[in-house]
Amino acid sequence: MGVKILSIGAWAPEKILTNDDLSKMVDTSDEWIVSKTGIKTRHIADENSATSDIAIEAAKIALERGNLKAEELDMIIVATTTPDFQGFPSTACVVQGKIGAVNAGAFDLVAACSGLAYAIEVAKGLINNGKMKNILVMGAEKLSSIVNWEDRNTCCLFGDGAGAIILSKGTDSEGDIIDSIIKADGTGEDALKVKVGGSRHPLTNTLPEKADICLSMDGQAVYNFAVRVNTEMLTEILERNNLKAEDVKWIIPHQANYRIIKAAAKRLKIDEEKFYMNLADYGNTSSASIGLALNEIYEKGLISRGDYIITMGFGGGLTYAANLIKY
Ligand code: UT7
Repeated sequence: MGVKILSIGAWAPEKILTNDDLSKMVDTSDEWIVSKTGIKTRHIADENSATSDIAIEAAKIALERGNLKAEELDMIIVATTTPDFQGFPSTACVVQGKIGAVNAGAFDLVAACSGLAYAIEVAKGLINNGKMKNILVMGAEKLSSIVNWEDRNTCCLFGDGAGAIILSKGTDSEGDIIDSIIKADGTGEDALKVKVGGSRHPLTNTLPEKADICLSMDGQAVYNFAVRVNTEMLTEILERNNLKAEDVKWIIPHQANYRIIKAAAKRLKIDEEKFYMNLADYGNTSSASIGLALNEIYEKGLISRGDYIITMGFGGGLTYAANLIKY
């Protein structure tokens, strides 16, 4: 029995922040941001919205497209680095309550930008255990809530959004999550971090510096890591499944920087066009980015049942993960 993608949805807030808008906030320019990253705009949630509000919009679309009622969900997994609350309740629980998924368990998964790829493999395992049929897997972020809007090194990179996938038990002839690579290198914990607010440095102890409660990043360290692991993961997942890049319809990488993808494509001698990119419009939405890209592919009619796709995530932790999926 396979574990198929029943449906796909995604949502991003309406408000758009352009590179020109950013150049009025920090010392940057459209030219720098586009040439260094490929990002032109990002979507930003309003002050009153939390990650669950963004996730719920994506979930509703996926449920409707899958012709599934919320009551038919057995589990909700929200991959996020920007949960509604520190600690608990989980964002997944908030989503569960608000969409009325009364028969579903719910938990958050923290694997930064690899979160959706991790969650897909976890959901596959839960379905294959035999007790669950339908699982709503989401990557959802309100990164604007942890961006330091005074730091030009990071504020031009990130945006808000959510991607949702409903995975369901299928028959042998339907789609499947064929293989996954789920890895981490925790020695790189300092490369991407929110330093203060957890149990290491609780907010209750001291009044923190603003920069310390926001996302901080060693851009070049993450860049080098990303090119290496994307290259390794793609080689491994293709080789061990006896596939060539030509057999795959789309490689959907985490949307962080077009230069990272360009470099990996060059190393692997794979046509850049094989990598689906939409970061120009959304920026880096961490765990949401693969879902937003997959949804766009679906909405544009660029994928058919039976096509192979590969997702690839990398990010804070450091984590990295990939899924080979027969759609
Ligand atoms: O999903 C999480 C994963 N995160 C990533 O994948 C990020 C990976 N890293 C990157 O994408 C790149 O490292 C960046 C896009 C973040 C930066 O590109 P870079 O080529 O590594 O630039 P840099 O950090 O070496 O900075 C070059 C210069 C610096 O000036 P000096 O020191 O050479 O005078 C920066 O201060 O560019 C400056 N700079 C900027 N200038 C204008 C940094 N940010 C900006 C900015 N506008 N926004």
